[in-house]
Amino acid sequence: MARIREVRAREVFDSRGQPTIEAEIVCDDGSSGRAMAPAGASRGVAEAQELRDHDSPRCNGRGVRQALERVRQIIAPALRGLPIDDQVGIDLRLLELDATPNKRRLGGNTLVAISLAAAHAAAHHLRLPLYVHLRSLARQSGYCCLPAGNGDYLLPLPMVNMISGGLHAGRNLQVQDFLIIPRQARSFAEAMEIVYHVHRILGQLLRSSGYEAYLVADEGGYGPKLRNNEEAIEVILQAIHRSDLHPGRDVVLALDLAASHFYRQGKYQLAPSNKDLDTAAMIELMLSWTNHYPIVSLEDPLAEEDWQGWKLLTQKLGARVQLIGDDLFATNLCRLRWGMGQGIANSILIKPNQAGTLTETLAVMREAQRAGYRLIVSARSGDTEESWLADLAVATGAGQIKVGCITRSERLAKYNQLLRIEEALGHQGQLARPFGDLFEPWTISQ
Ligand code: PGA
Ligand code: ZN
Repeated sequence: MARIREVRAREVFDSRGQPTIEAEIVCDDGSSGRAMAPAGASRGVAEAQELRDHDSPRCNGRGVRQALERVRQIIAPALRGLPIDDQVGIDLRLLELDATPNKRRLGGNTLVAISLAAAHAAAHHLRLPLYVHLRSLARQSGYCCLPAGNGDYLLPLPMVNMISGGLHAGRNLQVQDFLIIPRQARSFAEAMEIVYHVHRILGQLLRSSGYEAYLVADEGGYGPKLRNNEEAIEVILQAIHRSDLHPGRDVVLALDLAASHFYRQGKYQLAPSNKDLDTAAMIELMLSWTNHYPIVSLEDPLAEEDWQGWKLLTQKLGARVQLIGDDLFATNLCRLRWGMGQGIANSILIKPNQAGTLTETLAVMREAQRAGYRLIVSARSGDTEESWLADLAVATGAGQIKVGCITRSERLAKYNQLLRIEEALGHQGQLARPFGDLFEPWTISQ
């Protein structure tokens, strides 16, 4: 078994042009692996803290030289000599070294880069594709991958950003992501084709209505200054129709409201059409939207601290709509357990850098899966050209993935990797159909 010989880190840049950390691990047999940390803009309070050079004017305090120093002085000496295939041992060592509840000593960004670099190096050493190696790590961790019908692997159904708002597009709209899900696609390649058509027609519709549709938001979607959130939903429905697809049957909608980011003093500032709603009014609005539109999934429809509201919303909508906790759970085992105990949400967004290490991420996935919560593996709005998230989604049979639109190469890195994996798997792979059976399919006639 190969052992870790060297751990290095460097400062590189993410898709928003911000500094981020890249870690590299080299083993004594020459095998090596590399990984970069992604970064969120609409971050949950409970997620692992990033370590950045806040006291330095360099790169506006966003540099990661302190994190590089921690790797050199603390992490590298402690990991040297560890067997590369012992991911749990490596991650536990990292957690011992950090020894804070929110990873502030070493930084969640540092930990995720090192942890994933180790997984890459192990896959290299074992001469396995990353998704195969991650699958065996998931199994060792007690995470039982979902059976994929006759196939061995489940490819995730993509939830694809079409229009962006909130912190990802200069707060043009309050809702952060308006997404489509090609629920009837039979393969990942077909899902991408459907998305391609809707995205292209949506651009034409926006342009012909006088909206700027050439610029892209942080996750690659359009960022037009529409009149209100409903207009965004309606123009996407129109694009689906014009693509000769049936909204509700072929393609359904999802929203990420990221509501914590427009929640002030107990009120949701959903301007301009729906101003300052209290929790009850916000829940009514969610009921009305999911009754009127083929929306099957709501992410963070209420603020991360509005637990009472979440509970009520789950009682009212949880049986027919996917209710995803992102900022709410922050890929954090304690928060997830608490939420499950309270009957809050029915799905969880999985962002490895919210957790810190791969082992913690897998533990959260295992717990959620055991409780029957759905899993949606997700990129960040500031992401990188790497594709390991795609491998993680396939390895864990998560069933869904959310990485943004089909423009911008940090997004395509994941989609294109899924196309490659699907091709490599052939009959051993099957596209997940989470909306084929569990939730009543929407059918609207227009
Ligand atoms: P973030 O956004 O990466 O800025 O947190 C993604 C999301 O909210 O899902
Ligand atoms: Zn979110």
